[in-house]
Parts: sequence; structure tokens; C-alpha cells
Amino acid sequence: MIEKINEATSYIQGQTDFSPEFGIILGTGLGGLIQEIEIQKEINYGDIPHFPVSTVESHQGRLIFGLLAGRKVVAMQGRFHYYEGYTMAQVTFPVRVLKLLGIKRLLVSNAAGGLNKGYKISELMVLGDHINLLPENPLTGPNLDSFGVRFPDMLEAYDPEMRKKALEIAKEKQLNVHEGVYVSVSGPNLETPAEYKFLSIIGADAVGMSTVPEVIVARQMDIPVFAISVITDLCFEGQLKHVTVEEVIAAAQKAEPSLTLLMKELVKSF
Ligand code: HPA
Repeated sequence: MIEKINEATSYIQGQTDFSPEFGIILGTGLGGLIQEIEIQKEINYGDIPHFPVSTVESHQGRLIFGLLAGRKVVAMQGRFHYYEGYTMAQVTFPVRVLKLLGIKRLLVSNAAGGLNKGYKISELMVLGDHINLLPENPLTGPNLDSFGVRFPDMLEAYDPEMRKKALEIAKEKQLNVHEGVYVSVSGPNLETPAEYKFLSIIGADAVGMSTVPEVIVARQMDIPVFAISVITDLCFEGQLKHVTVEEVIAAAQKAEPSLTLLMKELVKSF
């Protein structure tokens, strides 16, 4: 595994000497932040040894190196989900590579269903914590000691300083941003009404199918993480309705200007 991570990293370093400070993973329908990056180098996932390749149509698979608000970032345009059939090692492989490329912080976005009755479609939720209900853990198996400890603690999975700054920025820019608990499920089906109720009862404010594996791996490597959900559908009594992926993407895109502004201001503040 380590060898594969090293090979992928060496290939990238052979293509560019750009050294990113921030890693950014963009969620479903949320690739628009890319337009704000002054791109210096793009590398297709398919060209990087051992890198998984996106299968979901709404994701384009590319690593993008450049400046966002004057800060050096590498953005993953397209991420890997467990429901696509990737192993957890594959889902989190890019995060290991980003660490070796030198990122100091990781920012993650995703599309999620709103369980909190106070949430509305296209609003944003900063992750304050998570509940992991995925059936497998990315740290299962021999520990990669050079990356981190066997039993990483998860008390501050989401960096308190970045959360605080994000909420301050939201207030200053008059963006309606919540903070809440994200629960990860495997999908790909959405949940039944009983499941949504269950997820709400156990303490979640939003539900989605990504983010948590990447966060666990980043935290094992001691990378401070910021994550944010766009609420794309409402999942509580009175608001439940049939949802299509097109509607999820449309709701995500509507939130994109706010999300982009927040992410830009956040990287600028560090
Ligand atoms: N459930 C799970 N994942 C999701 C949802 C949902 O309702 N909406 C967007 N991603």
C-alpha cells in the first residue's frame, strides 16, 4: 500500500513542483469552486498510477493545482464513494497522497439530506461532528505506522478553529450556515422514512454517503479538517418526497456561490 501511495505521489511530483498548503475535496454538484482557482496544473486521475477513477457521471476525475484566494491548493474534482464498489483503501487513497504532497489542512464538501427540522434546501451545514454508519472502516488492516497511530482519537475530528472561522465568515457575509452532526451511510439508495427518523433520533442533522472515510484517514495523519454539507433534500416528516439525483445536483448548484465564497474566505484566513 505504502509503495502505491509513494508511486502515485512521485508521479505527481514529476509533473509539477507545486506544493499545496490546502487539499480540497469537492462533492456532488459542487465542482464550481474550480472556476475560482487560478489553475497552474491539472492531472487526470487516470494518468496517476494506482489512483482510482470516478464512475459517477456528475464527477470529473482530476487533480487541480493552483491558487485560490492567493493560497496554494490542490483540489480533487471528483471523489470516490464506497457505493461505487471501491474499497475503503481506494476511497481514501487520494487523501494519503495529498498528505505526502504536503497539505497542511483539508477542506471537504458534500451533498447531504437534511434531518434537522430547522434546515432548508440549499442551506449549508458545517460539520461539527459525525456518526459513522458505513459498514467498513478505512483504517482496518495492518496499520500504516508512518502515517499515524493505530487508534487515532476522534474528539476533534473537525478542526475547532476552522469551524469557528467559517461561522464568523458566514455571519459577516450574511450566509445562513448551520453547524451540525453528519451521519454517513453506504447508500446508494436513499433512506426509508423509518431510517431517516432513526438517524435523527441518534443525533444526526444531515445524512450523506461520503466524507467520513476521508476525514478518518486525514485525522489519523493529524491533518486538521473542515467539512461542509449542502442540504439537497429534506428528510423529515411533512417534507419527505421522492428525490432524483438531478434535484440533488440542482439544489447543490444553487448553494454553490455561498459555498465558494465561504471556502475562499476560509483559506484566505489561514
Ligand atoms: N440520504 C443520503 N445521502 C444523501 C441524501 C439523503 O437523503 N441526500 C443527498 N445525499
